[in-house]
Amino acid sequence: MTWHERYGVAMMKTLAPPLAVLVRGEGCYVWDDQGNKYLDFLAGIAVNSLGHAHPDMVAAAQKQIGTLAHISNYFASPSQIELAERLKRLTGAGDAGRVYFCNSGAEANEAAFKLARLNTAGGRRTRILALNDSFHGRTMGALALTGKPLMRAPFEPVPGGVEHIETTIAALERELDDTVAALFLEPVKGEAGVIDLPDGYLKRARELCTEHGVLLIIDEVQTGAGRTGAWFAYEHDGIVPDAATLAKGIGGGVPIGALVTFGATSDLFSRGQHGSTFGGNPFVTATANAVLGVIERDDLVGNAARRGEQLREIILGIGSPLIEEVRGRGLLLGIGLTEPVALKLAAAAHKAGLIVNAANESSIRMAPPLIVGDAELADFEERFRAALEAVTSSGLVSTNR
Ligand SMILES: Cc1ncc(COP(=O)(O)O)c(C=O)c1O
Repeated sequence: MTWHERYGVAMMKTLAPPLAVLVRGEGCYVWDDQGNKYLDFLAGIAVNSLGHAHPDMVAAAQKQIGTLAHISNYFASPSQIELAERLKRLTGAGDAGRVYFCNSGAEANEAAFKLARLNTAGGRRTRILALNDSFHGRTMGALALTGKPLMRAPFEPVPGGVEHIETTIAALERELDDTVAALFLEPVKGEAGVIDLPDGYLKRARELCTEHGVLLIIDEVQTGAGRTGAWFAYEHDGIVPDAATLAKGIGGGVPIGALVTFGATSDLFSRGQHGSTFGGNPFVTATANAVLGVIERDDLVGNAARRGEQLREIILGIGSPLIEEVRGRGLLLGIGLTEPVALKLAAAAHKAGLIVNAANESSIRMAPPLIVGDAELADFEERFRAALEAVTSSGLVSTNR
């Protein structure tokens, strides 16, 4: 039996069949079991910040796993404490900040959901607000926060009290009051197809949350760790949240999540109220320290900003009738298509040796490693152009727009 056939009978049927069985990676490239080479412009969905098999990450992971991999949360480790300190610094949470470690984005949002329940300032606050079409993960609390009714429907009842609102400043002004415990939002809606927030939205959210004692909880799971050309996407708007949830890119490929609290929010959790066996173990925190250390040392945040602009120009410069717009920031980019052919285009890209993702029927999402350089961008242009031409010449789309 092939790997695909074995996957088909062994794995739970929760996902679509895999696009390929990958066996190796190096830099911005991966190889499948048939020996095909792909330019990876998805990076494990915004995870492989340093690409694949980065020597500093490999060295740190190998060293730590050969020294002390796991300890339980009855004990602490130097790498865990160092990573918490580093995240306090990088997020701007500063001296009053606190960090809780877990193992994924969904888990970070679960922790944040519990945090929101503890915000009882000024009386019982029963409402939590989140945005339509948002994505916060697949576990029950994270699913309750997720603004996609079809995704929630088979699993109702999910934890209660969450209301989903339109992503407009008017909706914020209408809904935010002293009965709200927290507002959850993604600074760029990645899973929705890389959709930017309206201009001025975060600033107004910050003002209203402060005015009403509402926790502003920003989900930086996909946007964090330099991806948008800032360490965290809220920096673009010059604000800080009351809490941020992190995962994906901070670990560069090891499973890690974190909840970072700012200011007085850091005093909400008390002893025994939350925990995780694996969360913050020496292996993942030493590896994450190495990953974030390289991002700092090599100014990969600046690289993300610069390469993102270059990539946007390359995409628009191709001049394909299929491309309507490029959304997003830094190296989290979405291509809005003029026709609902994203799945076909992602498949054509795959054939051309390029990994991108169809976030929905008319959006392509890209989140390449933060290390991309001129050579990878040139290779992208060639492969993506071939994919676009394959789709437009297939006669399945009208090109007379
Ligand atoms: C914004 C956001 N939040 C949460 C999650 C869930 O993270 P995980 O898959 O690590 O549970 C994702 C995953 O795509 C995400 O994009």
